[in-house]
Amino acid sequence: PATGWTATADVIVVGSGIAGLTAALELRRVVGKVLIVTKGPLSSGNTVWAQGGIAAALDPEDTAEEHLQDTLVAGAGLCSEQAVRALVTEGPERVRKLVDRGAHFDTQADGSITLTREGGHHRDRIAHAGGDATGAEISRALVARLESVRSDPHIEVIENAMVVDLLTAAPDADGRPGPVCGVTLHVIGEGTRDGVGAALAKAVVVATGGIGQVYLSSTNPASATGDGVAAGLRAGAAIADMEFVQFHPTVLWQGAAARGQQPLISEAVRGEGAYLLNAAGERFMVGRHELAELAPRDVVSRNIVRVMEEEGSENVFLDCRHLGESFVHERFPTIWDRLEERGIDMAHDLIPVAPAQHFHSGGILTELHGRSTLRGLYAVGESACSGVHGANRLASNSLVEGLVFATRAAADAASLVADGTLTQAEPVVRQGPASLVPATMRPRIQQIAHKGAGPFRTAAGLATAVTALADIRGRFHTMDAPGVMPQVAEWETSNVLACASLISEAALAREESRGGHQRTDFPETDDVRFKVRLAASLDPDGH
Ligand code: SIN
Repeated sequence: PATGWTATADVIVVGSGIAGLTAALELRRVVGKVLIVTKGPLSSGNTVWAQGGIAAALDPEDTAEEHLQDTLVAGAGLCSEQAVRALVTEGPERVRKLVDRGAHFDTQADGSITLTREGGHHRDRIAHAGGDATGAEISRALVARLESVRSDPHIEVIENAMVVDLLTAAPDADGRPGPVCGVTLHVIGEGTRDGVGAALAKAVVVATGGIGQVYLSSTNPASATGDGVAAGLRAGAAIADMEFVQFHPTVLWQGAAARGQQPLISEAVRGEGAYLLNAAGERFMVGRHELAELAPRDVVSRNIVRVMEEEGSENVFLDCRHLGESFVHERFPTIWDRLEERGIDMAHDLIPVAPAQHFHSGGILTELHGRSTLRGLYAVGESACSGVHGANRLASNSLVEGLVFATRAAADAASLVADGTLTQAEPVVRQGPASLVPATMRPRIQQIAHKGAGPFRTAAGLATAVTALADIRGRFHTMDAPGVMPQVAEWETSNVLACASLISEAALAREESRGGHQRTDFPETDDVRFKVRLAASLDPDGH
């Protein structure tokens, strides 16, 4: 796209969830200038929706080693142990830093942080805020901290701006992509920088969050369109673990026609003792896993789907009736209100729930400092594949991942900028997605992903999805007429398509079942062929 204006910075951070804001705050004093670009207002994104909490071995009885073990078990053999070690050893310190930055966690009478339990954890290690409004409180604190330094000349914020693409320098003589040296972006709506522009930098940190919009229903907000992953792919970065999509077991069931973001009923509700019941009112998780309702999330989701299939039902039920009205109301005020708005009394009614897309373990492949395979490009948080989640993320490990790896990436980028390893390269202007897809195609893409790449997959279903998605890419390959400015919804839909394709292709290639990837035609885990990460990079048709 034509560039109307250019901004410059040492480091650009894309996204303003926990990972993006932490990276920006860490970078602020250590590089000359940091530019934050975010698709909505600073407070938008996935973080604000997080309910349950943030996992860290904060209890004196708990250890990083135990947190590591629980994380590795949930990850079903595919975690990077080194990355998990960084997560669990640095997590407690990073949570304390978050408190220093102004986040108020729920505390005990003695002032210590109250800790609860969630699926797959063998100890109480989930810190929470406002009962079930942990993400909202973290976002509030980080946004407030950032706003308080916004007049600082070392920081610039561009809100309501979608990063369309990463700018890279010319490829080297062997055709390897050049370093990432900025972004093109589309500013939405009012502002002095309306329209399409470019921002140049020595390093770019992608922190754009998840891919929820790939699916018909998700706990993610509408902004979760996989923008960073798709832009990373187009720039030539390796993308990995795309097949590992996490379906949260207990999302409010609002009927088969419900689309888009659905209300989450936090795992912490089960952590506090709620039961899962089948249509006959029986606790079906007892006897299926030693942790019953608190088994790892993939196990619970799969068992719910099985129960629904056996019963021919569309949902199961969450039962909090034995927990007591005042406790439930006080502990889960956000969920209480969301249910009340829909006519459900959490203390006295059964809550209809079913699994829905929640989290994505895959993304831009990174090493221990958030570096991608492209020089100058970092990825942190949900848009990264740091290796901490493996085949299935342990509950409440994502906020802490954002904190730990954003801090690591910021330190690394700052030192490489300072010692001159990362310098401003000359960008080659790119053209955005090769297949620019009209926004009207999004429901079709979601239907294809939902049907083929949902909680249970088969070769036939995935092959159909791969072909149907490739057809869409092919159909719109030449749609972008010169001089016509695509709208944000088109960029987003193209990114959704790219992510849906990568998920389906990786899921087809992985002929086994492991964690968040379950193949009914290959129900066993195959450690001989598949105890490896599957990585993709740009294919010739440029999705
Ligand atoms: C929840 O509150 O159940 C979500 C926690 C998470 O995704 O880690």
